[in-house]
Parts: sequence; structure tokens; C-alpha cells
Amino acid sequence: MRRSLLQSIWSPPCRRAFSTKPDGRPLLVLGLESSADDTCASIVSSDRKILSNVVLKQHKIHEAYGGIHPLHAQEAHQVNMPLAIKQALEEAKVALSDLDGIAFTRGPGMYGCVGVCAGAAKALAAASGKPLLGVHHMQAHALTPFLTAHPNTSQPTPSFPFLTLLLSGGHTLLLLARSLTSFRILATTHDESIGASFDKAARDLKIPWALGAGSPGAALEQFAFPPLPSPPSPDEATLPSDPKFTLPFPRQLAFSYAGLRSALTRILANEPPDTMSDARKRQVASAFMRAAVRQVEEKVEVGLRTVETEFGTEQGGERVRGLVVSGGVASNMFLRERLRAKLDALGYADMPLIFPPPHLCTDNAAMIAYVGLLRLERNRIDPLTVMQRAKWSIEECEAEFEAGEAGAKSS
Ligand code: KG4
Ligand code: ZN
Repeated sequence: MRRSLLQSIWSPPCRRAFSTKPDGRPLLVLGLESSADDTCASIVSSDRKILSNVVLKQHKIHEAYGGIHPLHAQEAHQVNMPLAIKQALEEAKVALSDLDGIAFTRGPGMYGCVGVCAGAAKALAAASGKPLLGVHHMQAHALTPFLTAHPNTSQPTPSFPFLTLLLSGGHTLLLLARSLTSFRILATTHDESIGASFDKAARDLKIPWALGAGSPGAALEQFAFPPLPSPPSPDEATLPSDPKFTLPFPRQLAFSYAGLRSALTRILANEPPDTMSDARKRQVASAFMRAAVRQVEEKVEVGLRTVETEFGTEQGGERVRGLVVSGGVASNMFLRERLRAKLDALGYADMPLIFPPPHLCTDNAAMIAYVGLLRLERNRIDPLTVMQRAKWSIEECEAEFEAGEAGAKSS
């Protein structure tokens, strides 16, 4: 980008100047996302306006398989991606020639699925000559609260350093975020993710995905904690006691959800879901969700204590200035309530607890376009030959550019 030609406008969320086009209008980036089962395209401007945000869902294909079927997902992305791009441009009233960059999820995610948004973005960038920006999907989830902060929502702007929980279908991460590009992993899952455990629990308890508008995790939440209390059922008087789920890795920085699911499998072996009363099923579903969330609460406590006592200047501790929670599971209202209660109980009543709005917690391309804009600002452009990555640590999200820039400085 020709920086000398660009003027600057104030961008409060990052307390840094964003560039504009030479005529002073904000920059525009198209974002594409297809790492799991949603095909997404969005246009975001450098004054943090989401001009369009298209999400084409595929759950009707996958529900029959009890989870995302990778080949069917890839094929559906191939059908839907051109439609999503067309719709995003039309809704934003933007032409390809108006764009300043093309961003896409480069990874991590299902290789064939990520290949669809990567291929579409590379073709658009090659044909239009616009800069190409291959974005780290989890970095995009982590930075979404900057896009959605005040005045777009009532949420405050996060201040570094903050703790980040990224809870999705593929990840369960507790991170320390020190800057837009510096993330340190404090805890990850030793087996499956919290989102996958919700998806499989919904499948095993035979809860229809439609209850959560196509998301099995949201369906489990709606079933376990119905917004309107259900009328008393005659079965309730005879319910057995709540199932007990143990907390894995107590007082350690490690998540695990496999044990919770094995415990559920054992319950269902004795009480098949087809013969269970709704009241009992609800009891089991809510005990499962409470146990899953209790684990998140406990890891936040251990993470806060660790960073505030063992990190930072000469290990005197580093003051954490907020907790940011994102990824699909962060749209769970029960989790939101529990985390606020936990921070308050730990004496952190003043600590900001920040969630993007639920529709921007789940996969979307607005977060990809936004991180694309942040990358464009720093001139971190990918070559047209860049390839998607199935696995990619968030600690390395911009490492390739950092290594190149360090080399250029020292030579
Ligand atoms: O971030 P995301 O949309 O996609 C991935 O990157 O994986 O997260 C999807 C996950 C799925 O496991 C989905 O069931 C779960 O988020 N999810 C929820 C809720 N909404 C989505 N889990 C619990 N409660 C919800 N309300
Ligand atoms: Zn995601």
C-alpha cells in the first residue's frame, strides 16, 4: 500500500490511526470464511462499520450425520461461496473495484473447507489486483470485541493485557493477549473442545438442532435452560438426583471434555434417550452444561491467579485488564452469567467481561474482514501463492511477517 498517499482517521478501539483512501473515504475490505459449516462473506470499513454480513448455513445437510461431514461441507461451500460474495457486495452497495483488500480465513480449520474461501479470495485478488490477506481464524474471534466495541455496542473497548477465552467447535483456549498479534496460550484442551462436547451431547440426547436455529450447542442450551419455564411435569416428582460430573485437571491450566462425554454415554447406556422423560432429559442436559461451564470458570480462576502472580516484570505478576470471551460457545447465556458471577466472587467485580454480540461470536466473515483491515494497515500482505493451513497456532498468527520484518531491519 502506498502509505504516503494515505491520510489517517481516528480509530478509537485500537487507539491507533487507520488509513483512508486518498480521497479521505474509509478503506473497504471483503472478508470470506468457510473453515467449518458456515459460508460467510462480509464487507467492513476502516471506520468499523459492517456494511454487509452474509452467513449461509448448512445444518440441514449435517444434522443427519450428527456433526459436520467434511466432504459435504466442502461441496456446500463451493455451491454457496459465489452466492455469499455476490450478496455481500450487493447489500453493501460496493463494487469489486471499490475494495482495498480481500481477506479470507487461512486457517485453522477443515483443510478442504478452508480451501474454498482461500481459492475464492486468491482468484478475486488475482483478477482485481487487490491485496490478499490470509487471516488466522482464532485471532479474528479474539479481536472481534474491538470491531463491536462502543459505539457499535454498549461493550467497552478491551485494554491489553487481557485474558481471552476462545470457545468454539474446534478450540477451547485460554489465552493472555498482550497486543493485536501477541497471544500466549495458557490452557488448551487435552482431547475434545467444549463446542464438540455440546454438539455430541445434543446428538446423543436426541435434541433437534432446529431448537437452536441449526446449532446443536444452542439447541442444547435452549433445551437445558428454556427461556420460559416449562409447566410442571408429573415426572419431576420422581426424578433421580442430578448426575454427578467430575472436574478434570483441578487447579491446573488444562481443559478436558472427553471424560464428561464418557460419563454421559454411561448414563445413556442405562437410560436410553428414547425412553427418557423430557424432565429427566432436561435434568441430564443441564447438569452436563453446568459441569462444562464450571470447568471454564475454574480455568479462568487459575489463569488469573497465574498471570497476576507469576508473569510480568521479574515475575511479580502482570495486571489483567479484562476478560474477553468469543467463539460460538460464547453466545451461551448461561456461560455469560456464570462468568460474571465468578469474576465478582473472586473479587474482580470491576473487571470488564466482554462478549461480542451472539451473532458475531459464531463464525462470520466480518471478523475476518476486520483483521484483514488491521493487517492492511501494517502492510502485511500475502502472496497469491499462499496456502490454507488446517493446523496453525494462534501464537504464530503473524509470525511469518514478524520474521521477515526482523530480517529486513537487521540487514
Ligand atoms: O466459532 P464457531 O461458530 O465455529 C467454529 O469455529 O468451530 O463455534 C461453533 C460451536 C459449535 O460447537 C456450536 O454448537 C457452538 O459453537 N455453539 C454453542 C452455542 N451456539 C453455538 N454452544 C453452546 N451454546 C450456544 N448458545
Ligand atoms: Zn470459529
